[in-house]
Amino acid sequence: MLYIGEEVGLWKNDDPEVDIALDPLEGTTITSRGDSNALAVIAAADKGNFLNAPDTYMEKIAVGPEAKGVISLKLSPSENLKQLARVKKCEVSDLTVIILDRPRHEDLIQEVRRCGARIKLIRDGDVSAAIATCRESRGVDVLMGIGGAPEGVLAAAALKCMGGDMQGRLKFRNDTERERAKKMGITDFDKIYTVEELAKGNVTFAATGVTHGDFLKGVVFFGGGATTQSVVMRSETGTVRYIESHHDFKRKPKYSWEE
Ligand code: FBP
Repeated sequence: MLYIGEEVGLWKNDDPEVDIALDPLEGTTITSRGDSNALAVIAAADKGNFLNAPDTYMEKIAVGPEAKGVISLKLSPSENLKQLARVKKCEVSDLTVIILDRPRHEDLIQEVRRCGARIKLIRDGDVSAAIATCRESRGVDVLMGIGGAPEGVLAAAALKCMGGDMQGRLKFRNDTERERAKKMGITDFDKIYTVEELAKGNVTFAATGVTHGDFLKGVVFFGGGATTQSVVMRSETGTVRYIESHHDFKRKPKYSWEE
C-alpha cells in the first residue's frame, strides 16, 4: 500500500515527474466472494495533473462518449436522465443506470425508478461500472451515486481515454475528513470537478482483470502458472491495447515472502 504523496521510482534530475493513481485491488470484497469485475488498476499523468483526492467519498456521474457534455451534478438525477435520453434519441425508460447497492442510495434509486429508467445494482466496483458506460455491449448508460474518491480519479482517467464524461463532488462524513482534505489543499468542499479537473492533460490507464468481468478476463490459474488479461489505453490518441499474458511461475523472480 502506498501512502498519498509517497515518492516511488528511479527518478533522476532531468527525468519527467509523473503522478500515479492506483488501486492494486479495486474490488476487495468482490475478490473474496469470487464475484465479477475486480481489477488491479493504475493511471499515470504529468506531475500535478490528478486531483489529489483524499480518502473520502465522492458523488459521481459518468457516461459514455455519446453523452459527453450533457450531464451535470448541478442537475437532479431525473434531469440528467432526460438529457441523456435526448442525446441518445431514446426514452428515459430505455436507459440503464448503474448504482452501488448501498443504503445511502435509497433516495437516488427511488427517483430513478420514478423516472422509469432501468437500474443495475452492483455490490462493489464503481471503476468498472464507470468504464461500462463507454462500452455499448455492457448495456449501461450512466453511473450515478457515491463511491470512493480515489476510485473517482481512476475512473476519470479511464473515461478520458475512452472519450466518456464524468463529474465528481467530494462527500465528507465528518469534520476529521474535511480537515484531512484541507491539509491536502482542498478549500472548496462543494466543488464539482469535471473529468478534466479530476485527470488533466494526457493520461495513461492500465488495468488487469483479477476476477472475471465484462471488461477483462480474470486471472486463470493452471498447474505452475496463470493467464491474465490487461488493457492499456491513453487519452492522447484513444488507443486501447489488450494484453493476454501467460505466466510461468517456475521462471518468475522469487519474492522474499516466497523463500
Ligand atoms: P475496495 O476494493 O477498495 O474495497 O473498493 C470497492 C468499492 O466498491 C469501490 O469500487 C467503491 O468506490 C467503494 O468501494 C465504495 O465504498 P463503500 O463500500 O464504503 O460504499
